Amino acid sequence: MKPATPVEVCPPSIKFSARARAITSSVIREILKITERPEVISFAGGLPSPATFPVEVMKDAFDRVLMTQGKSALQYGPTEGYAPLRQWLADHLTHRGMRGLTADNILLVSGSQQALDLLGKCLIDPQQKVLVETPTYLGALQAFNLFEPQYASVASDTHGLQPDAITRELAQDAAFLYALPNFQNPTGRTLDAARRHALVERARQLDLLVIEDDPYGDLRYRGSAQPSLLSLASQAGYEGVVRMGSFSKTLAPGLRLGYIAAPHALIKKLVQAKQATDLHTATLTQMAVYEVVKDGFLDTHVPQTCALYREQCDAMLAALKQHMPAGVAWNAPEGGMFLWVQLPAHIDSMKLLDVAVANNVAFVPGAPFYANDVVANTLRLSFVTVSKEKIAQGVEILARVIKQYS
Ligand SMILES: Cc1ncc(COP(=O)(O)O)c(C=O)c1O
Repeated sequence: MKPATPVEVCPPSIKFSARARAITSSVIREILKITERPEVISFAGGLPSPATFPVEVMKDAFDRVLMTQGKSALQYGPTEGYAPLRQWLADHLTHRGMRGLTADNILLVSGSQQALDLLGKCLIDPQQKVLVETPTYLGALQAFNLFEPQYASVASDTHGLQPDAITRELAQDAAFLYALPNFQNPTGRTLDAARRHALVERARQLDLLVIEDDPYGDLRYRGSAQPSLLSLASQAGYEGVVRMGSFSKTLAPGLRLGYIAAPHALIKKLVQAKQATDLHTATLTQMAVYEVVKDGFLDTHVPQTCALYREQCDAMLAALKQHMPAGVAWNAPEGGMFLWVQLPAHIDSMKLLDVAVANNVAFVPGAPFYANDVVANTLRLSFVTVSKEKIAQGVEILARVIKQYS
C-alpha cells in the first residue's frame, strides 16, 4: 500500500521538535483517503453509523440548555467537567457494580482519545514499559508513542488477552497494562468472566495498573453482559484499575465527550495535565449531553443501535460464510463494530489491499494494530456504516480477490 502523500516543503523557520519529527500519520487515515471514492465499498472505516445519531434529540437539548442556562453554558467551566454529568456517571457506574465511586473520581474529557493522551502524559516515562494486547487499538499506540514507551505485548488468543501470560517479569516496572475487554478494536473479541477475574487478581498480586478502555461495551447484541474490570477490582478492594468510557458510540462521536474513572489522586494529576491542554471540555456540549442522558434516553436509544448493528453483523457473517474460500477464518463478535479475519499464512493483507481497492472494496490491514511482532495475514472489517446489500456485494468481491491472490 503506497498512499500518495505529497511532499510538503517546510519553511526553514519551522524546526520541528524530535517528538514532532517522530509522529507519523495514521495508516488508517491514509487508507480512508483512498477509499473515499464513492464506488469503493469500504469496510475500513471505524466510524459509528450516522443512522444512529439522535439529531433531533440533541438539537432539543442544545436549545433547552441555551434557553434556560445560556450564560453559564457559554462560560468557562471547571477542568474536572460539568458537575451534574460527573455525578450522573458516578451513579451510572455504581449501578453497574463499581463500588466506592463518587463524582470526585470522574474526569470528563474531550473524547476518550484525550484520556489516552492524558494518561500517557501522567504515567509514561521515556523507555518505560507499557503492556498491550496483541493486537491493540492503533489510536492508543499513537497517543502513547509521544511519550516514548517500550511496548511489551501480552499474549492473546481468539478469546482475547491471556492473564496467565502476565508474569512478574513482564509486569516489572511497567507503567500500566492497556486492556480492551469488550468487543475490542480491532478484533471484536470479548474477554470472558473467568479471564476478567483472573486478570484483576493477577494485577492485584503484581500491583499492576490496568487501564480499561471500554467505548463499545454498551453495544452488546448477543450473549450476556460481563462485569467491567473496574467493578471487579472495586469489589476486591483493589484500586489499580482506571476506566475510560465515551459517548461517541452511544450518542455521537462529533460531541467529543468521554470520561476517566480513577482514584482521586490520579484524577488530580490528570486535571493538571488537562488544564495545560485545553482548560476543560466544551461546557455547552457537556450540559446538552447531561440533558439527554439524565432522563434515561440511552436506555431506549442504545438497544436500537444494537439491533441495527446486529443485523449488519449478521449480514457480514452470512456473506463471509457463503463466499470465503477455505483457509480464511473469522470471529463472530457479540457486540461492537468490528470483526477480525485471518487469511492463509502466505497472504500479506497490506499487499492484498492494493488489489482489493483496485476492485472497489477496502478493509484495514492488521499490521498497524500490532505494537510488536506483526501478524501480516490479518485484517479488520467494520460492518456498521455499509448497507446489508453492499455488505453482501463487498464481501463477495473481497472473497474473489483473496481467491485470486491465493
Ligand atoms: C478502543 C478505542 N478507544 C478510544 C477511542 C477514541 O474514542 P473517542 O475519542 O471518540 O471517545 C476509540 C475510537 O474509535 C476506540 O476504538
